[in-house]
Parts: sequence; structure tokens; C-alpha cells
Amino acid sequence: MSEVKTKNIQDDSATKPKVADGLDDIQLGARRKGAKDSCVIKSHTYVDSDGANDVNQLFPIVHEFAWEHYRNTCKNSWFPYDVGMVRDIAQWPTLTEDERGILERTLGFLSTADSLVANNLVLGMYKNITSPECRLFLLRQAFEEAVHMESYSYIVQSLGLDEAKIFNMYREIKSMADKANWSVKFTRVLSDPEFATGTLENDQKLLRDLIAFYLVFEGIFFYVGFVQVLSMGRRNLMPGACEQIQYIFRDESLHLNFGVDLVNQIIKECPELWTDAFQAEVREIIKEGVALEYAYAEDTMPNPVLGLNKDMFKDYLQYIGNRRLKQVGLEEEWPGAKNPFPWMSELIDLKKEKNFFETRVTEYQTGSALDWDED
Ligand SMILES: [Fe+2]
Ligand SMILES: [Fe+2]
Repeated sequence: MSEVKTKNIQDDSATKPKVADGLDDIQLGARRKGAKDSCVIKSHTYVDSDGANDVNQLFPIVHEFAWEHYRNTCKNSWFPYDVGMVRDIAQWPTLTEDERGILERTLGFLSTADSLVANNLVLGMYKNITSPECRLFLLRQAFEEAVHMESYSYIVQSLGLDEAKIFNMYREIKSMADKANWSVKFTRVLSDPEFATGTLENDQKLLRDLIAFYLVFEGIFFYVGFVQVLSMGRRNLMPGACEQIQYIFRDESLHLNFGVDLVNQIIKECPELWTDAFQAEVREIIKEGVALEYAYAEDTMPNPVLGLNKDMFKDYLQYIGNRRLKQVGLEEEWPGAKNPFPWMSELIDLKKEKNFFETRVTEYQTGSALDWDED
């Protein structure tokens, strides 16, 4: 970014920070957008005096990673009602109480968790992200969160579960409420009508929210439930529910990968945000996420079931926590932590799993093969 365009808003006391959110009057005659006229947090380093940083103009693409992730999500379109639930309905009464509990609790957390993610995205994140291609991904992600909510409801209704019990579970089970409460405070900061990027402090608040939601909420808080339910699929139990959870797991992996790239792009564009103190805070955020998810594992799985036990989740969550730290360039917190569920990363690639659940073969991917990062 050239010196001419750069302006430090903090030095201009007469100017209140303003997000370049696309709601200004249209500037007739503003110059055309150039290949470098875009930042993820625009107001921090760039004041749009000539109208070039227009969030309404997608091309030329500046943040290629966002465009690629958007295109990849579009290749993975799927719809819950295309997945049959007949075998699940027949199997449900034959499951043990512990097995039924695993699916119910996963549905209980995830059905409301996707709403919390959508709230953060729509009410907090969107207006503050000023890269049009990143916004495009957020729009697609919002749609996918809606599909996920529909999917959980479809499973609940197909199995004739107690809807009030499932959907209110995050307000009845402490470990679920703790995870939800932990996340809401980040959204609350950004959804404040007075909040605007443009200061070091506020830009760090946005970055903190992105790390909390992408790396922890979508990158840690879903994983115990995913492992538990997908373990059922490995035993040919509840194939319809597992097929949908597998699609959701794949979607969430893409959301996570986008979030990691987004965070790293912001660090690249605004290196002054990535202070030693902030890095230490990020480490604490990841550690809190691991601790909360392990508490959820302990709370929801008091007995070993489906070959799983609490200790395996401790290892797994530390392994995941290490990965999240490394994905933003930080040192591991738990050196040597091993992944007891290596099959999880294989499950993301549906092409390897066509006969896995012995359900009908459904290949939703419509484009060329996807290149998945192991998450
Ligand atoms: Fe989701
Ligand atoms: Fe998501």
C-alpha cells in the first residue's frame, strides 16, 4: 500500500473512525478500483478519499484465497432432505441409552451453535470486513449455517425426538451454556452500534472475534460432537444422520480454513495488531477453547461408549489446539499431543468414503476434486 493512500486515523482526532461498509452515498465520478485497492480491515490503514475502495466491486479480486474458498464451498452444495432417514428411524429404538444420548447432545449443542455463529457473522463480522470477496464468502457461509440448522431439525423431527428438550439443551447443560456464553461476549463487542474499526484497539477486537469464532468455535467447539456422531457411522449406525453430519463437518472445515486465511491476511496487512501481548492473548483464547470443549466431553460422555473415552478427547483436543496455534504462526502449547482419531481427516474427503456408511451414494461435489487441508 502506498504512502499516499495511507493515513493513521488515530492521529486525526476530528475524524471518528468509520468503517468503509458500503453505506456511504455513491460518489459519482469516483476513480476505478485498482488491484491493490482492498484491505480486509480497510479503515485501519486506508481512508477512502477517492472512492476507490468500494466494497460493492468484486473485481479485480485482491484476496484470491477468499474467492477460491467461495468457489470451493459452492462445489459442495447439499440439502438435508436429499438424505434418507429410513434406516435411522428403524435403528433408533435399538441403540443403547448412551448411544442415543451422544446423538441427542450433539444435536442439542450444534442446533443452537450454528445460530450463534450466524449471529456473529451477520450482526458483528460482516459490516467490519471490507474486502468484497471476503464478504462473498461470508454470505455463502451464512447460507450454509442455515442449511446446517435445517439439517439438525430434520434429524430431530425424523427420529421423533423431543424438540423442546433438544433445542433448549444449551440452556440446560452447563458445559454447553459455558461454550455459548464464552462466544457471545465476542459478538456483543462487534454488534455494539458504536463499534467501528479504525483504531488499534478496535481492530484488535475484530481480530479477537475472528480468532474466537473461526479457530475456537468452528475449529474446536464442534469437534467432540463430530467425533462422537461420526464414530456411530463407522459402526454403521444412524447412516442418514451421520451422512449429514459428515457434510456439515466438511463445510465447517472450509469455514475454518477460510477463517485461518482471513486472520493471517489481516496480520499481514496490519502487522501492528499482532503484538506480543496480543499473541499471548490468542494463546489463552485457544487454551480456553480446549478446556471448555474438554469439559463438554466430560459432561456429555460420563461413560466410555462406541470405543471412545474422555482421555482420548483430552489428547485429541490438545492435538487440535496445537494445530490452531500453528495455523496462525504460534508455537504448540502441548508438544507431542497425538491424534487418536486420524480417520477424522479422511472423512472430510467424501470420495474416499462412498461406501462407508452403506447408504446410497451421494456425491454432491459438482466441480473438480477439492484440495483439503488436514484440519
Ligand atoms: Fe455450521
Ligand atoms: Fe460454520
